[in-house]
Amino acid sequence: MATTLAQAIAWGRRELAAAGVPSPDADAVLLASHALGLGRGETEAKAILGAPEPSGYRDLVARRARREPLQHITGRAPFRQLELAVGPGVFVPRPETELLVQLTLDEARRWREHGELHPAVVDLGTGSGAIALAVATEDPACRVSAVEREPEALRWTRQNLGGSPVRLLECDYRDLTPQTVGRFCVVVTNPPYVPDGEIPGDPEVRDYDPPTALYGGDETGMLLPCAAMDTALRILRPGGCFIMEHAESQVAAVADALDRRGFTEVRLHHDLADRPRATTAVLPGERS
Ligand SMILES: C[S@@+](CC[C@H](N)C(=O)[O-])C[C@H]1O[C@@H](n2cnc3c(N)ncnc32)[C@H](O)[C@@H]1O
Repeated sequence: MATTLAQAIAWGRRELAAAGVPSPDADAVLLASHALGLGRGETEAKAILGAPEPSGYRDLVARRARREPLQHITGRAPFRQLELAVGPGVFVPRPETELLVQLTLDEARRWREHGELHPAVVDLGTGSGAIALAVATEDPACRVSAVEREPEALRWTRQNLGGSPVRLLECDYRDLTPQTVGRFCVVVTNPPYVPDGEIPGDPEVRDYDPPTALYGGDETGMLLPCAAMDTALRILRPGGCFIMEHAESQVAAVADALDRRGFTEVRLHHDLADRPRATTAVLPGERS
């Protein structure tokens, strides 16, 4: 007997829950949406109206049950107002990183209030281009640059940033100097910060996010975050702001590293789940 869409989704939900997928209800529907080429609401409406199971749905559920990330299966990752192309080789943007975009937009507005009509912003380690493209989309007055080093990630960065006004710098963010890239009002970054040797438990992260996007370079995970701070010291304008995501366990280490480098106004920020996941700090000096 033919299976209906509603029966298929109920089956998908059970398969995904049995495989330990954290959000089986949502994923079962989103995979059906992907198979149908429709939005989530339209898919749910079709299920109520008794539509048939879409072809290929069981294969999609089987891939997700093997813990392949939903975003790799659909090829898309939602981020603020964007839908980014993602897949093997690039870090899947996370909801908590949307906080960095808001902090950057707030800081750009402050620069504009000080007479800087086109605040320069740079995103260190841009990956899919999520932060850079979101800032450029939501505040077109910003002049946005994005830095990425990894060739596998860059295939996706180029795809997402192509046709956008974002300037892509294909290099190591530790090599940036004011002579080569200019100075910025805001340096924002979600660097690799997982302590080396602390292997993430989620298969989606452990087996699919590139290690070069995850691991911070030493047993504290702070080597690459500190390198981003050093770069910010060189390329920020006086009064410019450094904005960085980090782990909850790194709050004190990040504040200490910023203090030691002479940054001021070190502030901690919480994500939508009220977890302390970002810190901002200011390079001393008059904005000019
Ligand atoms: C945690 S991912 C963040 C990606 C993206 N910004 C986001 O929030 O979704 C870190 C990114 O930094 C890149 N990266 C790591 N070390 C780098 C370096 N030294 N120079 C430039 N990019 C680097 C990685 O390839 C990866 O794309």
